[in-house]
This record gives sequence, C-alpha cells and structure tokens, in this order.
Amino acid sequence: MKINNRLKCIGDLVEANSFCLDVGCDHAFLDIYLVKCKENIRTIASDVAEGPLKQAKSNICREGLEEKIELRLGDGLDTCTSYVDTVIISGMGGRSMIGIFKNNMNKLKNIKTIILSPNNYQADVKKFLVKNGFFIDDEKMVEEKKFIYQVIKFKKGKKHYSKKEYFFGPVFLQRKDELFRKYYLRELKSLEILLSVLPKSYYYKRFIIKKKIKLIHEVVQ
Ligand SMILES: C[S@@+](CC[C@H](N)C(=O)[O-])C[C@H]1O[C@@H](n2cnc3c(N)ncnc32)[C@H](O)[C@@H]1O
Repeated sequence: MKINNRLKCIGDLVEANSFCLDVGCDHAFLDIYLVKCKENIRTIASDVAEGPLKQAKSNICREGLEEKIELRLGDGLDTCTSYVDTVIISGMGGRSMIGIFKNNMNKLKNIKTIILSPNNYQADVKKFLVKNGFFIDDEKMVEEKKFIYQVIKFKKGKKHYSKKEYFFGPVFLQRKDELFRKYYLRELKSLEILLSVLPKSYYYKRFIIKKKIKLIHEVVQ
C-alpha cells in the first residue's frame, strides 16, 4: 500500500508506543501506515459513516491487521476510549474539528497528544486547544497534488502565544522554510484578488483583509 505525502507527514508526527484514535479514518490508510511502519502503535480507526468504515475494513483485512486496528462507527470523540492517548483528525475543516472537541470535552482529560490537519481556520483551532490545556509542539507543511497542507501537533501543557504566532504558527515562524513562503505567497495573491473584488461598503471585511496582507508582507517578503 502506498501512502500519500500528506498522510505520511501526519503519521510521522505520531510517537512510538502510542494508542491512537483516528477520527474520520475513511479508507484507514493512515492507520495501516502507522501500525506497519511505526514502532508499537495501536489504533482505533473511526468514522461517522458506514461506507468509509466498510472500505477501511476491507483494506485492514487485506493487510492482515485486524488485531492492531480496531474499527468503530461513531461521531467524533464518541468512539474514544480511556486507553487512547493520541487523537488524530485530518481532512476536515477547522471549525468541524472544534465542534468535535466541544461535543466531548471530558474525553480530552486522558489525551496527551493531538495531531490535526485542518483544511482551514487553523488559527481558530490553535486558539481553542491552547485555551483548553494544550500547546503547539510541532508544525509541518506538506505539498500534495499542488495543495499545501498544514499539520499541527499539540501536547498537553501551557504556553502563551502572540497574535502573530496564532496566525502563522510559532514553529512555522521560526523555520520559515520554502514551503512556508510558497503557502503565504499564494495566500497573499488570493487575499489581494479578494480585496480587489470586494465592494468598498464592506468596510470591516476589507479592513481585516488589509491587516492580513500587511502581516504577510512583513513576515514573508
Ligand atoms: C475527507 S475524509 C478525510 C479522510 C482522512 N482522515 C484523510 O485525511 O485522508 C473525511 C472523513 O471524515 C468522516 N467524518 C466527518 N465528520 C466526522 C465526525 N464528526 N466523526 C467521525 N468521522 C467524521 C467522513 O465520513 C469522511 O470519511
């Protein structure tokens, strides 16, 4: 089985000896990669829909990994058990992820690590988890079929961040690598296009966009 760059990047942030819950596992490619390629990993592959779970089951059986990957049908963290220490959610919007946590805040008590790859609203996700007892341990950008994805690893603990760190990511800001530049130059272009078509009467929206453009210029150029 060949895994794509995005899922491999997520998987490579998982620590050895972890018990993971993959929320929205779909095909379970990530779970298969984790138990096959990383040291001593167990996972629960869960999904809210029956179709993906059926596909996951057939992929897991084909690899003979039924003993190491448990399948669970359910919404968000409803499928989380007391022995899970790592939650992984990828391929969803940031606000859906926040909703998933809000629905089951008590389940976060036993969780040591959260690895997320939100498609949008990354700053909101960071603010939410930092407010609820996690800090940003690592951040990666990964390119897959012309898209650049962010992957953020949170660990339990307290840290404070500036607005700029929430916006760009504290680890990204320190590294400022090539992919980071590429990501924000693209973002800059789309914000400039948006600003050019937005009517002048949208005063507040224009103000926010201009602020973001200024911030990106300061950091990236
Ligand atoms: C776009 S796929 C992403 C699959 C995989 N995680 C990835 O990154 O490639 C989203 C999956 O999440 C599932 N999903 C959406 N909302 C969910 C929820 N609240 N709880 C569990 N699974 C959910 C969908 O059924 C779908 O299989």
